[in-house]
Amino acid sequence: MMSEETRKGAEIIRRGGVVAFPTETVYGLGADAFNPIAVARVFEVKRRPYFDPLIVHLATLKDLDRLVREIPSKAERLIEKFWPGPLTLVLFKKEEVPEIVTSGLQTVAVRMPKHPMTLQLIQLAETPIVGPSANPFGYLSPTRAEDVQEQLGDQVDFILDGGPCEVGVESTIVSFAEEGPALLRAGGIPLEEIESIIGKVNITKSGEKGPLAPGMLPKHYAPRTPVLLNWDEASPEELKEKRIGLLAFREPMVFFNFSHIEILSKKGDLREAAANLFSAMRRLDRLGLDLILAEPVPEVGLGRAIMDRLRKASSTLKGEGGS
Ligand code: TXA
Ligand code: MG
Repeated sequence: MMSEETRKGAEIIRRGGVVAFPTETVYGLGADAFNPIAVARVFEVKRRPYFDPLIVHLATLKDLDRLVREIPSKAERLIEKFWPGPLTLVLFKKEEVPEIVTSGLQTVAVRMPKHPMTLQLIQLAETPIVGPSANPFGYLSPTRAEDVQEQLGDQVDFILDGGPCEVGVESTIVSFAEEGPALLRAGGIPLEEIESIIGKVNITKSGEKGPLAPGMLPKHYAPRTPVLLNWDEASPEELKEKRIGLLAFREPMVFFNFSHIEILSKKGDLREAAANLFSAMRRLDRLGLDLILAEPVPEVGLGRAIMDRLRKASSTLKGEGGS
């Protein structure tokens, strides 16, 4: 099925425009990866610093050929197993990939998204497309077309509505730029599943790499309302008379008079929790609360990606933004 909307989006991308597009993870801000001027506009719309490189989305393995020099055998095994899907690989780039896409790095981040509309969009546009999450730099990622409309609606040429995102957190990023594979960002494919295919993956601590992986900056994915991850960080006095929202993992035992409660998954399912995470935080953020208290989730499977987002949302370091 080929929708008129997808055709229109592809046409705009071919002409060098910026189109917000759905993926299985979050909505992206798309432009022709081989058109540096179009890519520059993506940075402008997002107010993203030029040192933070973009992920290139592709629809076929032929596209991959245009972008990367070589594919290590472990990367190939991951591609076979997880593409299309929420896995981004950092590989050495071909000369032709514009520097603005990779912030001057010798590597490029690539992924094949799992959303029929997106794959069609890329194919009709006849070019791989860059796609940072379609949010202003540092804010929560959008998981619905309405979220994009609300924040960047007047700045993009078109929003392709593909419904709510199924996975709800960004792709897992694995880099092959150094000796062994390294996890740069926990995401939609659990680390355990990746290691079951290629063995041990190095875990790079947040921020360790500095500007090499700027998405790892501590403050990131943050609502405007302060987020607290542990009750212990605040004294009871500090919490008195405050309007506090609860972001609960599962059905909570309520022992405090919360102004509002969002439950990520009643039955405590991490997959469901990930899918609901950003929209639940957005709803809480709209209420003008004094504080959002977030309940930690178990750090296994998708729980690793959820905790990474919650830690970054709750980081008190101000002035440092994320993708
Ligand atoms: O699920 C996703 O990955 C979404 C959807 C739209 O595909 N996209 C996304 O893009 O999350 P963005 O720009 O918000 O995050 C991309 C991350 C950034 O942290 C960036 O620093 C990192 O990927 N990155 C991109 N290219 C890189 C490279 N060559 N080396 C290291 N990190 C890179
Ligand atoms: Mg982002």
